[in-house]
Amino acid sequence: EKGGWSSFMAKEISEEPEALEQTLLGRVHDGLVVLDEIAEGFPDDALRAVDRIVVLGAGTAAYSGLLGKYAIEKWAGVPVEVELAHEFRYRDPVLGPNTLVVSISQSGETMDTLMAVKYAGERGARTLSICNTQGATIARESDAVLYTRAGPEVAVASTKAFTAQVAALYLFGLHLGRVRGVLADEASRALVAELQALPAKLQQVLLQGDEVRQMARQMSDTRSVLFLGRHVGYPVALEGALKLKELAYIHAEGFAAGELKHGPIALIEPGQRVFVIVPSPRDGASLHPKVVSNIQEIRARGAHVLAIAEAGDVAVLPFADEVLRIPLAGTMFEPLLAVAPLQQFAMELAAAKGLDVDQPRNLAKSVTVE
Ligand code: F6R
Repeated sequence: EKGGWSSFMAKEISEEPEALEQTLLGRVHDGLVVLDEIAEGFPDDALRAVDRIVVLGAGTAAYSGLLGKYAIEKWAGVPVEVELAHEFRYRDPVLGPNTLVVSISQSGETMDTLMAVKYAGERGARTLSICNTQGATIARESDAVLYTRAGPEVAVASTKAFTAQVAALYLFGLHLGRVRGVLADEASRALVAELQALPAKLQQVLLQGDEVRQMARQMSDTRSVLFLGRHVGYPVALEGALKLKELAYIHAEGFAAGELKHGPIALIEPGQRVFVIVPSPRDGASLHPKVVSNIQEIRARGAHVLAIAEAGDVAVLPFADEVLRIPLAGTMFEPLLAVAPLQQFAMELAAAKGLDVDQPRNLAKSVTVE
């Protein structure tokens, strides 16, 4: 039941902090990640032997997988590729006995993903699934399963399941890093603490719902929206664009901000709406000034810039037309705060256009055909 919310989607976005919390529950002991539930399929020795990880999923699940790549490579030092499940098994992928295939699926029934997992298993790869549905087919087909605990997701567009998927991938990355001796306990504890602080921060982000609604209402006749992000902001841009296509039937594209001058900047004309996910100015890799300069470039060509930026980041103010704020968090954790306003935005824009946000046209909640 919707329980007072205007849609299941609105309710499910409001449940994201809880989805995060539940996904962490019982998986942290003494400040460190402990994943007993995968130990049978993946004893520590097997995890130490892994030399490559292939992450598979479709749609939103593939975008959470991209964030998993950043996390696993950073924390565990294992090379990770992310591939759309429906492309994977049609191109003779190279799989070895030490390739770990991680599949991601909310429903656990997506045929494209299921077939890819079966294919990987038949070719000798070890398979781990990240799944939101207890006992689903993909979970049963895998050597081990790490459940996201987002609770049932009814709206066709995935929201809280994405957040829980990212949390599960991060837990797995932290676990793998420690088992492999790449991540010291102290560093691991600091990252776990960041993860545990997220539900409260996300709750704060969701309080901007009215501002997001205002923003969306002014844009109900917009024909095209671009989304720019860099590093972990890039998957957020892709997900923001997907949500808008699905829900509001508006042409939307996500780009890596660094790619702008390699082509997409040609799309910028006066009035073009562009969301920019701005990295933290405290980020050590100094991506912040680069993204701010991207904003200047598109603004100079007449773009209408909607920035999602860290609280206190004043550098964006002279160039952004509108700014939504996220609380301070470590770089890797920003996506878990930045995606919710984009989900809300797509939902509000769809609502402003009088569309059914829970049941967008032509889509099914679980795609059980190839
Ligand atoms: C996006 C969306 C789809 C699903 C995709 C995978 O809002 O809902 O892109 O994410 O169909 O579905 P699952 O995760 O059930 O395998």
